[in-house]
This record gives sequence, C-alpha cells and structure tokens, in this order.
Amino acid sequence: MSSVDFSNDIKYIGCNDYDIDLFESQYIVPNGVSYNSYLIVDEKIAVMDTADARVTDQWFTNLENALQGRTPDYLVVHHLEPDHASNILKFTEKYPKAKLVGNAKTFAMLPQFFAIDPAVETVTVKEGDTLSLGKHNLTFVMAPMVHWPEVMVSYESAEKVLFSADGFGKFGTLDTEEDWACEARRYYFNIVGKYGAQVQALLKKASTLDIKTICPLHGPILTENLGYYIDKYNTWSSYAPEDKGILIACASIHGNTKKAADKLAEILKENGAEKVVVSDLAREDMAEVIEDAFRYDRMVVMSATYDAGIFPVMEDFLNHLKAKNYNSRKVAVIENGSWAPMAGKKMAAIFGEMKNITLCDTTITIKSTMNDDNVKAMKVLAHELCS
Ligand code: FEO
Repeated sequence: MSSVDFSNDIKYIGCNDYDIDLFESQYIVPNGVSYNSYLIVDEKIAVMDTADARVTDQWFTNLENALQGRTPDYLVVHHLEPDHASNILKFTEKYPKAKLVGNAKTFAMLPQFFAIDPAVETVTVKEGDTLSLGKHNLTFVMAPMVHWPEVMVSYESAEKVLFSADGFGKFGTLDTEEDWACEARRYYFNIVGKYGAQVQALLKKASTLDIKTICPLHGPILTENLGYYIDKYNTWSSYAPEDKGILIACASIHGNTKKAADKLAEILKENGAEKVVVSDLAREDMAEVIEDAFRYDRMVVMSATYDAGIFPVMEDFLNHLKAKNYNSRKVAVIENGSWAPMAGKKMAAIFGEMKNITLCDTTITIKSTMNDDNVKAMKVLAHELCS
C-alpha cells in the first residue's frame, strides 16, 4: 500500500466518505469508504472516473486544485455505477470540450443515467485500443461483469499503472489503518463474488502486463508486494478456500441452537480443527459471515425451524451464498425443531442447487435443547469434518 503521492503526473482526486450509513444500501462500512478518482496530467489531461454524489463538491474542488488552471481533455469512464459516475453530467456541463471515453456498453447505458448534451464528444474504445496523452499512454482492457457489463480497466504504460475499476477495491477510507485483506475480502465476495470467472479472465489478461501500481476505485493505491494482492484475487475468484477452517453459521431463536453451536466448536477443536469460527447470523454482519463462508473450506449451518421452514436469517444467508456462487465446499447441516423439525431438509435442498457441495453424511436434529445423543452425533460429525 502507499500514500496517494505515487507519481508526479498522476494525481489522486478522490474523496473519503466517513459517514455513509450503508454502502450500496446494504453493507455497513464502520471505517467509511473512498471513491477514488485520478487525474493524469500530460500534454493532454485525462480524468479517470468521477465520484459518488455524496462527495460532489469535494470532488470538483480536488479536480480544480489538481488541474491548476488547465482544462481536462478526457473523462475516462471505467464503470458507470453511481458511486463513480454520479458527476459525469456535471463534469460535461463544466468542461463541455472534454471528451468522454468509454466502450460501446458504456455509451449504451449512459443515457439511462443522464441526458448529456449531444454536442459532448465521445471516444468509443474496445479491447486493446490506446489513447495517447503525451508521454502517458492508456490501453483499454474490457472487464465485463467485474462488476457491471460495461466495466473496463486501463493500463498506463509509461508509469506501469493499472486503473483496475472495482477490482482490488476495499471498504474503508484511505486514512483508515487496517489489514487490507479483511475488508478487501468482505468487499470482494459480497460485491464481485458472483463473477469469479470474469475476474479470472481479467487476471489472465493482466498477467501479460508489467504492473508497478494498481489504482482501484475504492481503497488504497497498491504499490508494493503486488503479487500478494494478485494471489489473493486469484484464490478468491477461483473459489478455492483461502484457509483451512470451519465456519459454524447458526440461526438461533432463544439461544439453544447457539449453545449447541458453541459445543460443536469445542468438539471440533478437540478433534484438531485448524480454525473454528462461530457466527450468530441474527446478530453479526451477514456480509462478514458470507466472507468467512468463502474463506474457509468447511461450513456447518445450524438453524431453528420456523413456520415449517428455515429461520429467516439463515434462509437469507443461504440465498446470499447461492447468489454469490458459493461452491466446492464441504458442508454439514444441523437443525433444531421443537415439534416438526424441517430446517435441515430445506437447507440441504438449497445446497443441492449449488455446485460441487459435499454434504456430510452425519445430520443432526436437536429437539429444543441439545441432549447427550446430539453431543454423541456431534462427535461423529467432528470426525467426518476433521478427517
Ligand atoms: Fe464501486 Fe461497482 O462500483
């Protein structure tokens, strides 16, 4: 990671958002988020994306300061999602001579967001096209579905900089001091996780480039140990487990299923499990639990039965996993039910709709509170999960 001053000619003009309640109206961001934007200053000047409407004034101030009286020639639109594209219309109104640079999909979708004056010129680029700014040259690489269909990244060859759009993004403002992987992983699996194949395709293309710096649209600019970040992305996008470990995700109404989850964790540790994480879906950040589901190679889901089905937070969790393409993991199912336990069967059915999920042979039904037979069955299950 680095400060934003990694180059004399490429200026950071993005903004920190310290008080957004929910990113994309669904993710808590305790340390905020940054909307990154850059200015390449050369014979021609290119603005690399705008920023969210929440920071419009700050973004235009940053842009004007960096321009030092000059006028931008291009606005490169790597991604049209409003957290980066909200100020395109205002930009064209302020700098009507600047050309918008995007691909065919960008310009097909742009009118859905803004009625831009037809007099504003556009430059439509496709895979491998280049844009010369002087000594800086941009090459465009299409990255469809990382995270929207129109996404592209660009490579600046003079300084070997990859403008990676949402790729390599992370929650947290730029002045947040925290581990990169933790919040980058939560960001990745919840936002881009469904599109592993497309991320793999982009990584393959990026592997042919000599990259010195990665400039994502969220989170820190990456300048050192790039192999570390690329390896993480390779693991995540291939759906390979990152660590050996067992996530126990539980949905408990009155605490009895949670008590059983804690007991199972104890048994798993006695059986030599490398790492066991117990998550209470009703109380913890679900995005974090989803992240852990992908991070570890095994998972146990434990749910109370509710209205002859799965307790809602667990059903929500499993539907999220399915939507995010959760696959290739070993999973165990434990249900609780006081009179007609149904959650186990229904949870197993949802896993049946996912790819390459190995369900454990041992299934456990708790009737209200865990009994000795349940504990014995947990020991059998622990053996199955740890052997
Ligand atoms: Fe940060 Fe997909 O927008």
